Amino acid sequence: MARLDPHSYADDSQPQVARFTWRARVDFGSRTLTCEVDLHFAAPSQGVVDLDTRELTIDSVSGARFELAAGEPILGARLRLTLPSGTSKVTIAYRTQPGASALQWLEPAQTAGGTQPFLFSQCQAIHARSLVPLQDSPRCRVPYEAVLTVPRALRAVMGAAPVSRVEEGEVVHESFVMSQPIPPYLLAFAVGELASRDLSPRSRVWAEPSVVDAAAWEFAEVEAMMVAAESLYGPYDWERFDLLTMPPSFPYGGMENPRLTFVTPALVVGDRSLVDVVAHELAHSWTGNLVTNANAEHFWLNEGFTVYAERRIIEVLHGVEAHALSSALGRRELDAAVAQFASAPGLTRLRTELNGIDPDEAFSVVPYEKGFLFLCLLERQVGRPAFEAWLKRWLSAHRFGAVTTEDFLASVEGDFPGVLAAVRAPEWVDGAGVPSNAPSFSSARLAAVEALGSTAPEAELAKRWSPTEWVLWLDRLPRSLPVEMLRALEARFSLSGSKNPEIAVAWARLALSAGDASVLPRVESLVGTYGRMKYLKPLYAGLMARPEFVQVARACFGKFKARYHPIAQSVVARLVG
Ligand code: BES
Ligand code: ZN
Repeated sequence: MARLDPHSYADDSQPQVARFTWRARVDFGSRTLTCEVDLHFAAPSQGVVDLDTRELTIDSVSGARFELAAGEPILGARLRLTLPSGTSKVTIAYRTQPGASALQWLEPAQTAGGTQPFLFSQCQAIHARSLVPLQDSPRCRVPYEAVLTVPRALRAVMGAAPVSRVEEGEVVHESFVMSQPIPPYLLAFAVGELASRDLSPRSRVWAEPSVVDAAAWEFAEVEAMMVAAESLYGPYDWERFDLLTMPPSFPYGGMENPRLTFVTPALVVGDRSLVDVVAHELAHSWTGNLVTNANAEHFWLNEGFTVYAERRIIEVLHGVEAHALSSALGRRELDAAVAQFASAPGLTRLRTELNGIDPDEAFSVVPYEKGFLFLCLLERQVGRPAFEAWLKRWLSAHRFGAVTTEDFLASVEGDFPGVLAAVRAPEWVDGAGVPSNAPSFSSARLAAVEALGSTAPEAELAKRWSPTEWVLWLDRLPRSLPVEMLRALEARFSLSGSKNPEIAVAWARLALSAGDASVLPRVESLVGTYGRMKYLKPLYAGLMARPEFVQVARACFGKFKARYHPIAQSVVARLVG
């Protein structure tokens, strides 16, 4: 018995699924997928195979005996197959539940077009099991083929290569193939009324028709980003890098689904100022999608490395000032997260212990920003050229593999003997909080923001500020400012109405903490527009922190809950109690 992932029943001493073929019929009326999956084993196999499932109704299994255990709260229900000797394929017929945790089903009214429904998946961290019975651990990479059957008026897209679209009466069968082995959390699809625009020969953006031109303008820089990323980390391995602009309820900023990154429409602000999220998801094509954390306890190896790579791409494209500003903002977010975890300091380590903990609940910026700082520290210790050469070796040594913190430590120690001790690596990896030798970042623009303190920028300076500078300045203002001061700032800069949600949210947090009730309509419009958890969490928390706004928080949640993604619903539910 060798279960290597606290969030999966997968056992690596058992036969491993080598590839799968998935057929799913999408029914918007009943909000179910009616599916069949062929699981292929590498060699004729026999004996027990434990799969992960969550809320699946198993109709039949051909080629093996099966036993579905009772569902566990985090893991879901183990599906135990017993293969007769010489089994190379098992076919499972099953249905998903309307509440499948990987899916959000949207009514037409929740889309930009308003006339067609929309469906999308979000499998990271452990939701793939609510779509397909699989060994749902990032260690268990699989290539797959899929056929999605959807209403003919709609289009299906996947994080896979499209093969064909065949109409049959009222439906259309859309076929895809993902020939590279992926961890199950990267299984992804969406169905809706979608149009596309080419951004370059190897990239296009998909979105609802009314959004697609604005999205194409916003993301025009993608090819330049790909060239920058390739100059740092070697050739792009996934052939295409397409983007799907999601409906506003998408709970994340972006999701690095292979060949088809999903992004929130909140990035489409008309000034290309939020495309660092795209750089981040692109960077995952190397850090994460090629070299994957072996399980959620090593999540920092995905996200810390990706933030490091994202900021290097930004540095190549926009210079060291942009790198320093974004790193400084990251540090502020990290300090706030560490403060919030005061009662669960274990979650502020890089290497975490998540037995019995849902990865969605453990999620925070800590693995992102503390991981980033640790890598920058190592970079400074050994010098950038040596560090980047190591990073390339690490990426090529573990291509299409899964890595643990122990692998990382062994690799660094092997290439740079003594360096781990010199940077006090144990404090970083297994200690709580941010060690005192964390690197800091200096830049003239950052210094200018810091020098202002609580003073407002002159009009000339304000005009040159990027959204990151605005957010940094707002975040550094004392909480509980006098309301008259807020009014004066608002009169000068109209930040509450900013089209850029990063600025609008930073402003709203400030105003809420000052108890300024005049910001409530804006807060309501923000939590009613975006389902991105990065915005929902501080806004609801900001409301709940003022006794006089608690009722507003509960009323907003009651009103908008149905719009939120199931993961966001439970996160906000916990906040508003
Ligand atoms: N892979 C993550 C999103 C994710 C993490 C989904 C864990 C589910 C579980 C993605 O790459 C990400 O980090 N997105 C960030 C982007 C930001 C750091 C630039 C986000 O959504 O805000
Ligand atoms: Zn990421």
